[in-house]
Amino acid sequence: MTWLVTGGAGYIGAHVVRALLQDGEPVVVLDDLSTGQSDRVDPAAAFVQGSVLDRGLVRKTLREHGVTGVVHIAAKKQVGESMADPLLYYRENVEGIVALLEACQAKGVDKVVFSSSAATYGLPDVELVDEDTPGVPLSPYGESKLIGEWVLRHCERAYGMRSMLLRYFNVAGAATPELGDTGVFNLIPMVFERLEAGERPRVFGGDYPTPDGTCIRDYVHVADIADAHLVAARALEDGRPGATYNIGRGEGSSVLDVLRVVGEVTGRDTTPDIVERRAGDPARVVAKVDRIREGLGFSAQHDLRSMVESAWAGWQQRHP
Ligand code: WQD
Repeated sequence: MTWLVTGGAGYIGAHVVRALLQDGEPVVVLDDLSTGQSDRVDPAAAFVQGSVLDRGLVRKTLREHGVTGVVHIAAKKQVGESMADPLLYYRENVEGIVALLEACQAKGVDKVVFSSSAATYGLPDVELVDEDTPGVPLSPYGESKLIGEWVLRHCERAYGMRSMLLRYFNVAGAATPELGDTGVFNLIPMVFERLEAGERPRVFGGDYPTPDGTCIRDYVHVADIADAHLVAARALEDGRPGATYNIGRGEGSSVLDVLRVVGEVTGRDTTPDIVERRAGDPARVVAKVDRIREGLGFSAQHDLRSMVESAWAGWQQRHP
């Protein structure tokens, strides 16, 4: 099978490309390089620069490379930006998937692995979020991912296009330093940036109803995320029906837990400033991961320390 990986020049996409290639799958990357970087694209993969919104280009790419399945990762992914510019998110993420699937339908490509998000759950009021927890997203970003899921489910029912919907929790770390996250939009890189500037890390709210008062999340290594895509792609190749899966570790870490590990790994003082809560942050979001373990035999292998160590190695390489 040949897999088209949209967004394959980005942080998560490049890890997925690496995992597919290492497993012997031919890969074509489609990326408009709006946030991706061409030097992340493995030379063993074919590279096409362009957008999923360019229906002609997508059809041509599917045809010329004999693509049989698509891993759709290309998307805008910043919650705050989506609140400020919702139309951008509806165009890139909603119109984007519709355009891509029209091209797939035209070319008979009927297997899709979709990058979804725990942001589809919104403010889940449960200890562990399972895949049937009702989704009430809080942002256009989360909505755009949930709509993508709806579109794919209907395509499965109407056209027999099977899809694996992977809801990532809090992705961190890097398989190699070169593949590290260059964006500074999430907790771990934001802490690194503060430490580098000689400032204290900030904790957004210390009065949440959690044991240490800070928010709890399910951090999952990007190499595990990539392996989950590989397992999902293989299941589609084996003729399995589509399904929705959480991709997390099923284990919660508070912001203070993360700061403690960052302190151990970097040798820096990570004593934080506790500041105001950030609007829209749920107190606790931790995945129930039984479905993917039982259904596809997948479970995450890397712990929080391995995420922080690999993220720090990448950060140091980019900030010598
Ligand atoms: C984690 C925790 C912050 C920075 C977001 C999206 C989600 C997904 C992943 C894309 C929160 C706290 C952070 C800081 C802090 N994105 N924090 N000080 O908000 O859980 O999830 O990214 O798919 O959809 O919503 O991730 O890394 O921003 O924050 O205290 O300097 O760290 O309040 O509790 P979040 P995050």
